[in-house]
Amino acid sequence: MEHFSVIQSIIRSGLAGDQDGLDKQVQRLLTRLEKAGQTKEATTVRRLLQSATDTKELTPSRVEVSRAMITGEVLTPDTNPPIDRETGAQLCTIEFPGAQRTAPIYEVDVRETIQGLLDEWTHPEALRCVEVDPTRSLLIFGPPGSGKTMTAYHIAQNLNLPLVMARIDGLISSFLGTTARNIANLFEFANRYACVLLLDEFDALAKQRDDPQEIGEIKRVVNTLLQNLDLRRDHGVTIAITNHDRLLDPAVWRRFETHVHIGEPNMEASIRLVKRFLLPIKPDEATVSIIAYCLQGRSGADLQRICTSIKRTLALSGKEHSGPGIFQALSAVLARLPSHDHAPAKLLATDPDAFVSLITNDNHFAISQLEIAAATGISKSKISELKKSNRHVAVMEASHAK
Ligand SMILES: Nc1ncnc2c1ncn2[C@@H]1O[C@H](COP(=O)(O)OP(=O)(O)OP(=O)(O)O)[C@@H](O)[C@H]1O
Ligand SMILES: [Mg+2]
Repeated sequence: MEHFSVIQSIIRSGLAGDQDGLDKQVQRLLTRLEKAGQTKEATTVRRLLQSATDTKELTPSRVEVSRAMITGEVLTPDTNPPIDRETGAQLCTIEFPGAQRTAPIYEVDVRETIQGLLDEWTHPEALRCVEVDPTRSLLIFGPPGSGKTMTAYHIAQNLNLPLVMARIDGLISSFLGTTARNIANLFEFANRYACVLLLDEFDALAKQRDDPQEIGEIKRVVNTLLQNLDLRRDHGVTIAITNHDRLLDPAVWRRFETHVHIGEPNMEASIRLVKRFLLPIKPDEATVSIIAYCLQGRSGADLQRICTSIKRTLALSGKEHSGPGIFQALSAVLARLPSHDHAPAKLLATDPDAFVSLITNDNHFAISQLEIAAATGISKSKISELKKSNRHVAVMEASHAK
């Protein structure tokens, strides 16, 4: 069999888990196939290599966490999660490492904070010199759909630990005293095993104790929660998430060493999100910038939803999957959405010429007229005409006057 020696080396590297060796041998096979004129086979190998690179970009790299710092028994799929004694409802669900999840995209500050946390766990010895431990508790807050839950998965996956996700519906009970007991049981379970404990929709448990709508039960629940958070300090990692940070009891905040706000993505992060969500379509940079510019202020989840609609509209339109086709699909999708707070989106939904007039006059939108022409399919001469017209000003004034 031709190339058998290289195939043998590939198998050897694969079985030994030697990624570098594997990459090298696959490259060797590719070169040999090309030299032998086996173009079809070479193309297949090249495609496999390319898709592996794309996946690597999307999958977080797992860091080797100092195991000594996270003690506890090993959770296995056979481990039974704790349950509510009255109803039998599970108090948590568990995700084990290895699930194929994509890494979130953040703007630079959030990226550095999350990466910083992961770095602490990869270099605990550096922290030990100054007599501190890696961060064990994190409170994430921010608007809906910004990637908070996704971040918890990302952290657990990078730490290579199972994620124990509290189930609010299972924890909260109508029986007096049962919610507090469920919380205690959940923490006892999480402390027994090496894991990341996730308290999503945290405000449901950690509401202010002086809330006039609530009676004595909430005080008992919050007090139990605070005690258990204190007891968990030396165990695994704890992540709490909320959309309603203002509702949280003030005593809760200092139980978490780090607080991270994940908001709507800025322009740079939106561009990266749009590129990801439009895949397998790979538009030019100007088209991506136009979409991100229109969707400023929207959450990552919104961007995903709109990009999916663009792809559907484009696919059915029969137009080419490039700039002008995407621009028209974007305009059609925005026109179908009920309302827009953001002026560029509102303009593109109602009057694409006014939108072009806006982007050619906005100094923050650094795309040349030539690129705008290529991305929109509008002629260069019409674009410079629209720039001079300042049409967007009149359209925006008219809409304000309404
Ligand atoms: N920063 C991001 N990076 C990549 N994808 C994102 C991001 N934000 C949102 N998404 C997309 O939106 C989906 C929803 O995100 P996620 O559930 O993490 O939001 P959330 O902040 O927890 O929202 P909620 O407050 O409503 O629970 C994700 O699965 C992902 O596809
Ligand atoms: Mg969430």
